[in-house]
Amino acid sequence: MSVWALSLFLGGAFLTSCGGAEQAPAEETAATEAPAEEAVAEAAPAKDGAEFFQTSGCVACHQLDAKTVGPSIKEIATAYADAAALTAFLKGESKAIVDPAQEAVMAPQVEITKKMSAEDLQVIVDYIMANK
Ligand code: HEC
Repeated sequence: MSVWALSLFLGGAFLTSCGGAEQAPAEETAATEAPAEEAVAEAAPAKDGAEFFQTSGCVACHQLDAKTVGPSIKEIATAYADAAALTAFLKGESKAIVDPAQEAVMAPQVEITKKMSAEDLQVIVDYIMANK
């Protein structure tokens, strides 16, 4: 194979792997990295915050460091002075302070978070506040 053909081939493989990175490879990674995750889970309380934030559907609108549909996790953590105030919002006991104009988009989610157990809510609040 000529160098030219080889670079085309490698370039193609790179593009393909990039495009499909969302689905299957993520699962493979999770499987192979399981021991490392266990080590983290030992130090953490009940659930893994990042994972629970994801399985609760929050990542659909909240990324760690970039505004998407909703503000980034870092922006939320910075806006809230303490965990108690953030917990109050997620229990539907206080008004939005990060982006009040968009509060209606978040409102259905608060209906979900306010029905969560205190432990689960704590996992989410700890996860957000850990990203100040
Ligand atoms: C459909 C998109 C969507 C989903 C899903 C979503 N959010 Fe939001 N969220 C928003 C938007 C938009 C805002 C900005 C409005 C606001 O500040 O209330 C927001 C704001 C927030 C805020 C800041 C509230 C404030 O004081 O302004 C928190 C905390 C939050 N979301 C947590 C969560 C959690 C936890 C979940 C998962 C259970 C979640 N969100 C799921 C769209 C979403």
